[in-house]
Amino acid sequence: MKRQITLIKRIPRSSVSRFSLSFLPRIVVRGKLQQESRKKRQTGFRIPRSESRAGKCGMTNLLPIVQYSIPRSLLRGSSLVIILSLCILFILQPSKNSSATVSGDCEVCHGLYPGMTEEVEPGKPQYVLKNVLCVNCHSNSDRDTIKILGGARVPVVNNTVKPVKPLAGGNFYYVAKDFGDRKGHNVDGVTSVDTKFRGAPPGYDRISDPSARGYNPEKPFACAGSNGCHGNRNVEDPFDSIMGTHHADDSDIDGSTTARSYRFLKNTNKVKGVVGLEDDEWNQNSSSKKHNEYSPSIDILCASCHGYFHSKDKTGKERPWFRHPTDIVLPKGGEYTNYNPDFPPPPDRPDLRTYSLDAPVGREKIPGLPSDEVNPGKDIVICLSCHVAHSSPFASMLRWDYDAIVAGEEGKGGCFICHTGKGE
Ligand code: HEC
Ligand code: HEC
Ligand code: HEC
Ligand code: HEC
Ligand code: HEC
Repeated sequence: MKRQITLIKRIPRSSVSRFSLSFLPRIVVRGKLQQESRKKRQTGFRIPRSESRAGKCGMTNLLPIVQYSIPRSLLRGSSLVIILSLCILFILQPSKNSSATVSGDCEVCHGLYPGMTEEVEPGKPQYVLKNVLCVNCHSNSDRDTIKILGGARVPVVNNTVKPVKPLAGGNFYYVAKDFGDRKGHNVDGVTSVDTKFRGAPPGYDRISDPSARGYNPEKPFACAGSNGCHGNRNVEDPFDSIMGTHHADDSDIDGSTTARSYRFLKNTNKVKGVVGLEDDEWNQNSSSKKHNEYSPSIDILCASCHGYFHSKDKTGKERPWFRHPTDIVLPKGGEYTNYNPDFPPPPDRPDLRTYSLDAPVGREKIPGLPSDEVNPGKDIVICLSCHVAHSSPFASMLRWDYDAIVAGEEGKGGCFICHTGKGE
């Protein structure tokens, strides 16, 4: 990986329009993969795989890679020239300010995973295989949580060895390990079905799920699609549900489309997607001053599969404590005025509390820049105040070891970041 690190460059900020992208592959298809496409009537496209590069992406060996019937010598030469010159055209396009748009060497990604944008042939479901593609590309066989592919930075959410600096959602490494079952979402392609929940989301409540299909515990739990978190949950297939997002301009996160929803978390087209402020390193080098900013809209996403844990009448004293009130404002008063007690405010601003990455809060209004301030009376307890979204080293995907906290007398961290016990 060391060698790859020296190659790190920012993704070119060229804004690639949806139109030109869907236009390009068809030229390639017509020019070079004619026989293939005539045979299969493909609207998707295929760029030949480059074997030399296949090894760069962790876990690629899990993937059955399709080999083409046309001579490879034919494919190598001229299609590459066409692709490369078109890539240059893209880069030369007047660039708007786009944030996480994927661009770069098309072949590296599309050759590695030729099935990625292929149309599913009638009668040939590719559901399972396709989810594995998301997992594979977002995995890494070394400890780094951002890897480089075709000049683009790939956020890694599943390292096969213990990750350094897991990204904001945590890392599926923990759930995939022995006895990891309770430490994360048992996503298909990462690990087997959860033995306690048997693939059904605890607390599922159909009414809280805006998706037309609903969650189907008989089908694999996927990264995206109706049985997943990312993409449009009205679309069953994980790839179809995020189609177009990786190359779209997502500089403006307003929840209007999948690409313009925070981390492609759209839920369904009927509702507004999740909004938030996206750290450009997915929180890899986060601090109280540099981090993602969440809004309570992310709770609605969690609640679409865990409605029971969200509804306000299901929390309260008579209930088990862990149905903790969520989507409530951190009260301006009592122990909460000492939020994050290890970081006392500067003398000139006695009301200021410092943002804690171990118990982050949501904001009603997303700031334009990450803020290191937490304002009791304004900021909000969200699911992610206590949980991570993918997997953590601790049971119930918590940010901290709850067992150690309940066992400890004088608490520090975890629950005690908010429940400081030091109220007026
Ligand atoms: C870093 C990996 C990567 C690189 C490099 C890459 N792509 Fe993609 N591309 C993807 C992924 C992942 C998808 C599927 C998911 C989606 O549509 O968001 C995709 C989808 C597509 C699609 C179908 C969806 C759409 O936006 O129309 C087209 C067309 C496409 N890519 C063309 C290209 C071209 C042309 C290039 C080179 C300029 C390129 N890609 C470079 C990863 C990559
Ligand atoms: C060929 C590699 C590749 C494949 C396959 C792929 N991705 Fe990605 N993905 C990337 C790259 C590169 C980025 C970073 C650029 C970006 O943020 O758009 C990314 C970013 C993301 C992000 C973060 C977006 C953000 O706001 O930063 C999500 C979520 C995501 N991918 C989900 C998926 C899902 C779900 C699938 C499968 C349906 C998938 N990816 C398949 C390469 C891939
Ligand atoms: C698409 C449906 C879906 C969404 C959306 C979803 N989950 Fe889950 N969740 C599941 C399923 C299925 C399980 C049970 C299987 C498992 O644990 O892997 C689960 C299990 C859990 C568990 C228990 C893990 C364990 O093994 O003890 C927690 C905690 C959790 N989810 C939190 C969240 C949070 C927080 C969010 C929002 C960021 C969220 N979930 C969003 C489907 C979902
Ligand atoms: C203040 C902290 C906190 C917040 C906020 C919180 N949870 Fe939890 N949650 C916990 C703890 C602690 C547990 C573990 C309980 C246990 O092991 O007995 C848990 C357990 C769970 C479980 C697993 C239940 C089981 O049967 O094992 C799910 C699912 C879950 N939470 C979902 C959510 C969702 C969805 C939200 C937001 C709507 C949320 N939580 C908000 C602390 C929290
Ligand atoms: C991000 C801040 C935050 C964290 C972290 C947090 N809490 Fe809370 N907790 C609150 C707030 C805010 C309330 C509601 C106070 C109110 O309404 O007066 C609350 C209420 C409670 C209540 C009372 C519930 C009720 O409805 O009566 C219990 C019990 C509780 N928390 C336990 C915990 C435990 C245990 C943990 C750790 C697993 C935890 N909290 C972590 C902010 C937090």
